[in-house]
Amino acid sequence: MATRSTAEPTRRDFLYIATGSFAAVGAMAAAWPIIDQMNPDASIQALAAIEVDLSAIEVGQGVTVRWQGKPVFIRERTDKEIEEARNIDLAELRDPQADADRVKAGREQWLIVVGICTHLGCVPLGQKDGDPRGDWGGWFCPCHGSHYDTSGRIRKGPAPQNLLVPAYEFLDDEHVRIG
Ligand code: FES
Repeated sequence: MATRSTAEPTRRDFLYIATGSFAAVGAMAAAWPIIDQMNPDASIQALAAIEVDLSAIEVGQGVTVRWQGKPVFIRERTDKEIEEARNIDLAELRDPQADADRVKAGREQWLIVVGICTHLGCVPLGQKDGDPRGDWGGWFCPCHGSHYDTSGRIRKGPAPQNLLVPAYEFLDDEHVRIG
């Protein structure tokens, strides 16, 4: 079972959930792929699934968990964010994918994506309160200016693809297994 720790007690939206050791995901933003390749435990981590307790996450809040050595963004979306993700013309998208194909039916409030920009592998901003979330309210990768929407789809900037949706399943209303 995953454990939860608050990295900054004064900022409740800035939570990291990790299995095993705590990982300062944000500090590794610019060099994530390199560090990941150098990790001697990569083959072991690649097999791992993690379970995450969602009960403390508030609507509109994003948390980051570590899975297979990567940051995974979990956001409990607001109704407005869900509407914005649904009400678009897919023909406008660089990597066309309906919001319904990126979330689980009946649990559309939860968006779970790998938090690695599909351009060159930086970790986009948008998880912490006050972070820039880009022009579409999702995430913003400042490395070269990629904007992702509230479904994690690329909308502007050099990234070629949407943020990856990992394999996951809900165990119940408050617990999800990723991997
Ligand atoms: Fe994200 Fe370049 S790595 S825009």
